[in-house]
Amino acid sequence: MPYDYRRIADRIAADITAGRLRPGERLPPQRKFARRHGIAASTAERAYGELVRRGLVVGEVGRGTFVRAAEGGPVGRALTEATSGGVTSGAAAGGVVGVPASSGAVAAVNMELNYPSAPGQSELLAPALAPLLRPDVLTEALRPATGTAPAREAAAGLLATPGWRPAPGQLLFTGNARQAIAATLASLVRPGGRVGVEALTYPLVKEIAARLGITLVPLETDEEGLRPESVRGARLSALYVQPTLHNPTSVSTTAERRAQLAVIVRELNLPVVEDRIWSFLDDSGRDPLAALVPHLTHVVDGLSKRVAPGLTVGMLVVPERRAEVVAEAVRSGGWNAGRFALEAGVRWIEDGTVERLVEAKRADAGARQRLVAECLGGFRVRCDPRAYFAWWELPAPWRADTFTAAAAAHGIAVTPGRAFAVDPHRTPDAVRLGLASAAVPELARALRTLAAIARAQSSRPS
Ligand SMILES: Cc1ncc(COP(=O)(O)O)c(C=O)c1O
Repeated sequence: MPYDYRRIADRIAADITAGRLRPGERLPPQRKFARRHGIAASTAERAYGELVRRGLVVGEVGRGTFVRAAEGGPVGRALTEATSGGVTSGAAAGGVVGVPASSGAVAAVNMELNYPSAPGQSELLAPALAPLLRPDVLTEALRPATGTAPAREAAAGLLATPGWRPAPGQLLFTGNARQAIAATLASLVRPGGRVGVEALTYPLVKEIAARLGITLVPLETDEEGLRPESVRGARLSALYVQPTLHNPTSVSTTAERRAQLAVIVRELNLPVVEDRIWSFLDDSGRDPLAALVPHLTHVVDGLSKRVAPGLTVGMLVVPERRAEVVAEAVRSGGWNAGRFALEAGVRWIEDGTVERLVEAKRADAGARQRLVAECLGGFRVRCDPRAYFAWWELPAPWRADTFTAAAAAHGIAVTPGRAFAVDPHRTPDAVRLGLASAAVPELARALRTLAAIARAQSSRPS
């Protein structure tokens, strides 16, 4: 099917509105753009023409095509750099949906970034840090060593589920979960290798794979999770999956599917990377895939979501026989956990702070999901009442990129479906709403604004 140039223009427009392309930035030459995206040069030309028509870019003969400065201020900067503040434009302020952001001050609600913070979190975290500042303790906490026996014990206890408990010797620590993913994939897959992933996946995995020269192979999924049969015949070197509270759809793979997947993985002797960064929200006592195939599964987890991204550690549980190889990948990539962060993390686990934060965040996620149900009732929103995100399949005629741009014009950053799609030719007209970062009143206003935006357009004759 030939590409619709308007769709391509929509994508670039969304990048401009969200600040991913800044005023004055030069777009790639049309031919280069066409080659990079596998489209005809004439389609690229029409897409650029459409952007000029919309007033978003200017073409300068002999110099190229440049993003125009937004009238009334850089909306994108507000979105990417601010972390709080109420929505003051458009419907949120009782105005008319469709009022461009440039017509007034825009405060940002960031539903792209997704790091929860429980009420009173800093008060809970501070006491365990105080002893770390004693010079003798600090000297120890600033040593280069990564991973200590108490850290392995504490992490093993934290990550344990009713039917699974990692041995301390299986534990490694990284700066965060992304580093744990990068190190594990680097240890398992050579450049040029193929890694199977759910067709919609965590966007950073796409970037990590690209940097490691790894090809991602999209695998089929449905409302029960990954379809295990799709793994067969895919000629993979490894799998990266999120069987519990999958980001972005929040689907948890059923027990039956997990068992089927375990059989196939064992048969193919296929290493698995199981990302469990959101699984702390799952209070059902479900065991990881690692409980079924411990000799092949590498579990990725960490403290960024349970605690905070600013002082965090990534945790890796690897099959014992692979501990050294993965540790070497961690070391050579420079992905080791900082010792200070590790010491803080261990104290927070040992004194029960992490457990209290987990409880608080479970309750908080539930409350935010109730807001979603209230504000977006009647729309096709896929979510688990325990998850911190929602996957919104937009009503026609909305496209994900134009909706993202419209939301950005109201000071709300959402993530378009294509960010999660592994196959660039199969991008869903859905957006992911990250519910964790905004304060609850802002979140409520933002959700109502998004609903009004969606209704305004979808009730118009197309
Ligand atoms: C599925 C998944 N894995 C990993 C991460 C990254 O975690 P960290 O901040 O610890 O790198 C995220 C962050 O949103 C995520 O959604």
